Amino acid sequence: MGLQLLVEPLFGGALIGRGSWDGRLLITAAIAVLLPFILTYIVTSLNASWVTNRGNGNPPAAPYAVPVLGNTSQFAYDTEGFITRTLRRFGSVPFRLKVGLETMYYIPYGEPVQAMFKHARDLSMKPIIIVAMRDQFGMKPADVAVYERDGSGDMAKPLEGWEHMDPAHRVFYHQHHDLNAHLSGVALGALMARFKANYTSQLATTDQAGEHWTELPDLYSFLRDHMFRASCGALLGERLFELCPDFSRDFWEFDKHLITYLRRTPRWMAPRAYAARDRVLASMKKWYTHARSQLDYRDPTLAGVEYEPVWGARLMRARAEKFDKAGFSLDGCVSMDLGFVWAGTANVIPATLWVLLNVLLSENLTGRVMAEVEECLDEATGLFDVAALCGKPLLNGLYLESLRYCAATTSARNPVVDNFKLCGWSIPRDALMMSIVWFGAHDPNFWNAGRILPSGKPEHPVDTYWAERFLEYPDDPASGPVRKPNHALYTSSSSDIRPEKTAQDDKTAKPISHTAALQGHFYPYGGGSRICPGRHLAKQELLVAVAVMMREFEIELLDPVSARRARPDMRVFPTGAMGPDRKLPIRIRRRTR
Ligand code: HEM
Ligand SMILES: *[C@@H]1O[C@H](CO)[C@@H](O)[C@H](O)[C@H]1NC(C)=O
Ligand SMILES: *[C@@H]1O[C@H](CO)[C@@H](O)[C@H](O)[C@H]1NC(C)=O
Ligand SMILES: *[C@@H]1O[C@H](CO)[C@@H](O)[C@H](O)[C@H]1NC(C)=O
Repeated sequence: MGLQLLVEPLFGGALIGRGSWDGRLLITAAIAVLLPFILTYIVTSLNASWVTNRGNGNPPAAPYAVPVLGNTSQFAYDTEGFITRTLRRFGSVPFRLKVGLETMYYIPYGEPVQAMFKHARDLSMKPIIIVAMRDQFGMKPADVAVYERDGSGDMAKPLEGWEHMDPAHRVFYHQHHDLNAHLSGVALGALMARFKANYTSQLATTDQAGEHWTELPDLYSFLRDHMFRASCGALLGERLFELCPDFSRDFWEFDKHLITYLRRTPRWMAPRAYAARDRVLASMKKWYTHARSQLDYRDPTLAGVEYEPVWGARLMRARAEKFDKAGFSLDGCVSMDLGFVWAGTANVIPATLWVLLNVLLSENLTGRVMAEVEECLDEATGLFDVAALCGKPLLNGLYLESLRYCAATTSARNPVVDNFKLCGWSIPRDALMMSIVWFGAHDPNFWNAGRILPSGKPEHPVDTYWAERFLEYPDDPASGPVRKPNHALYTSSSSDIRPEKTAQDDKTAKPISHTAALQGHFYPYGGGSRICPGRHLAKQELLVAVAVMMREFEIELLDPVSARRARPDMRVFPTGAMGPDRKLPIRIRRRTR
């Protein structure tokens, strides 16, 4: 059913009567590039919301629908370009997209998306979370029903009309609460200490690199495997990898097929993709079953214990307990925790790659990063001081630019009230609103793109990675992330060659990330009360991962020309932070100290 429902409303009869090559091309295009979230949403809500929307006589006030049937091919062949062009036409007005039979509202960057984040009380993430759990993480109907049952919202106080719900059944609230409580403060410190110790010793002991140059096929897989192990170990405990030595391989194989699952491609059309998901779910289940049989999460001696090797972080015990009380089956719990592992690794690891790659591509940047990094090392332990890394201007700038450069994360919400108004526009109850950070983060009129070259082009266009983009240098009025209205700042000295910044300059720089102007254009973690609960962990892991890698190894890119051309892999747009579109062969050796 999946494919037909997806392709037919969009292409109508177009497939009929064409040569088979054309037909195949169209199907391939539809399968390859259509927005997965929109599509799964259509499929799922055909029965539910479409019918009610038609019947409630509450026409939305968005100016006019984009005639998608007329634009289907642009949309199908080039999702990113299509939304970019549509945004250009509508400016900051939310627009309706009619895809097939379903309507969704695209919420542009700027004021509208800020309003969407602000009005948390009237909006819910429930439908999109259900879609993700069911389609991405393979949750079965009986467990999806546990989610469906809960309309009480994710705040401590239940939404109106839900005051009498059994508190144990408030799954959205419990998740929201546990995630925020156990990914910050003391728990965050403990998580990071484990991540850091494990990652550092993995790199110190790996036999993939030694005193002499060794060639490795891909920088990304090298980074990814070590980071994934450290990250999962810190969260789920070391037992997982003992029980499932191939967990990492299975997980990334699963991640590779994400779009296939989200599109609800039938199993018979993509047996390998589903086999990969079955494998990773089976591994998680093995761990989960083992954990339950070994250690009761209610054991009073565990109260206040941040970590033990069976369940891993305290958060995992808290989740297991809440899931049981809510009535999830064993498979349901396993899908939930696979979702958590995905959220906790699938964005931060690609984001780390872009920092590392761009540092390696520039000798000057390598030197400046080393200067910052060396100051953060605790000589007594041989480990990095996380707080010190987080305080370094250049490292902060590199981290922020990486999120701007590679993140295509989606924030989605549905109004849970009638007459919801967003900047004056009415959005019907239950309608899907979504916004993808990529577009604001790549708005060429907003971002500082460096000086204007004689050719008229900026030196650092928004589709390139510029290490200093987020940094304000006190003696450089043309610095800072947001382009200033004074055009002369970027052109006046266009003839003289400016020196590269130095480590000394970096000491005076200030990373800018939280100004009001930026917030509407840069929301890789979403926003409002539902902002990503893992953002602190993500930043700290990224910085530690880069610092340890740079300190432990000398790394050279074997094909710098190709590496310089590496771009985010748009085939996975918009499922999150995107990894590179090619392999990055390196040679590597240990630094001699
Ligand atoms: C660079 C890395 C990351 C990015 C770009 C990112 C981005 C996001 C975004 C956009 C959301 C949706 C928020 C919204 O709609 O307002 C989200 C939610 C979430 N993130 Fe992250 N995230 C990252 C890392 C992490 C890490 C390291 C963890 C945990 C270990 C994590 C756990 C979660 C969870 C559990 C949710 C769902 C929260 C809920 O159900 O309310 N994320 N993330
Ligand atoms: C949609 O198609 C029309 C013509 O068919 C074209 O003029 C318009 O630019 C397209 N819109 C987008 C956003 O591509
Ligand atoms: C790092 O953690 C993983 C997963 O918990 C474990 O398998 C591995 O042995 C640890 N490695 C080191 C060097 O501590
Ligand atoms: C970076 O470049 C500047 C100017 O060319 C130079 O003064 C500085 O020493 C370089 N820094 C490093 C770490 O190589």
